[in-house]
Amino acid sequence: MKTVIITGGYGQLGVACKEHLKKSFNVIITGKNIFEQDVKLDITDRKDIAKAYSDFKPDVVLNLAAMTNVDECERDKIAANKINIEGVKNLCKNFSGHFIQLSTDYVFDGLSGPYNELDEVNPISHYGKTKLEAENWLKNNYSNATILRANVIYSYTKRTKASFVKWVVDSLKNNKEINVVNDQWNNPTWTESISFIINKVIDNSIIGLYNYGDKDFMSRYDFAILISKIFNLDENLINPINTSNLNQIAERPLKSGLKTEKIESRLGIVPNSVENCLRKIHDNLSK
Ligand SMILES: NC(=O)c1ccc[n+]([C@@H]2O[C@H](COP(=O)([O-])OP(=O)(O)OC[C@H]3O[C@@H](n4cnc5c(N)ncnc54)[C@H](OP(=O)(O)O)[C@@H]3O)[C@@H](O)[C@H]2O)c1
Repeated sequence: MKTVIITGGYGQLGVACKEHLKKSFNVIITGKNIFEQDVKLDITDRKDIAKAYSDFKPDVVLNLAAMTNVDECERDKIAANKINIEGVKNLCKNFSGHFIQLSTDYVFDGLSGPYNELDEVNPISHYGKTKLEAENWLKNNYSNATILRANVIYSYTKRTKASFVKWVVDSLKNNKEINVVNDQWNNPTWTESISFIINKVIDNSIIGLYNYGDKDFMSRYDFAILISKIFNLDENLINPINTSNLNQIAERPLKSGLKTEKIESRLGIVPNSVENCLRKIHDNLSK
């Protein structure tokens, strides 16, 4: 059985991956902070990495650790570089097994999405730049790597603290009006869908650059409307706004999203529809 170390294991995707992967692999969950019975692995700390590699001898490292707050990356570029670029290099030093790096559609400028793996990159935020630099470093320096680009990952379980779906559902349940951008386009992706893909990537030792996103391309506003319908909530509480109204520090790609034909044919899979994913989330919460 393969041993898989997951970094950033307590983040949104880490929690879902743990549940999925532990059915097929020996999974070691690691996090930046020390919790009871946890393995501490700060990817900026080479001593943590050396200890984890020596203790567990992983066949696979799944790197989910990242500075993911896009505005914070713009504010603190040094910290973003240290985690999102140098952290990847640290993890690859003294490791020659299968390295899986989560990347993002933010490597694109969002002028002409959705994008495939051959489309030209042009990040417009520092977050996007760091993720692209990590991709390029891996392409040039680490042949046994998978780069999996994802976009607008969401989840909502009884244990979820914060997520877009939870925010929409909880706000509408409380009769609270919300403003949602109608000019950012993606294919929102359930953590369960991408965990399933990562499982297959590990099982089949898939190497190279791949996109994954669920089936439907939509604006964030339309996504919120769909959430309201599935959860039987009042869609009139959702107001469409433009991204420029938010005055965010970092620029966002607007017409984005990821085409998935390459991974579909490589793995023989069909992406889930967003509606089906939301229905499953709804049904799981009602159990
Ligand atoms: N969410 C999306 O829509 C999306 C889209 C495309 C790609 N991705 C990529 O998918 C991956 C997982 O994202 P996610 O949604 O699960 O993000 P997340 O919930 O923010 O999880 C990231 C995790 O990394 C941890 N971390 C930060 N710095 C670290 C360090 N120095 N060492 C070890 N762990 C560290 C964070 O811990 P703290 O919370 O304690 O800082 C957090 O638990 C990331 O690579 C992200 O870039 C995400």
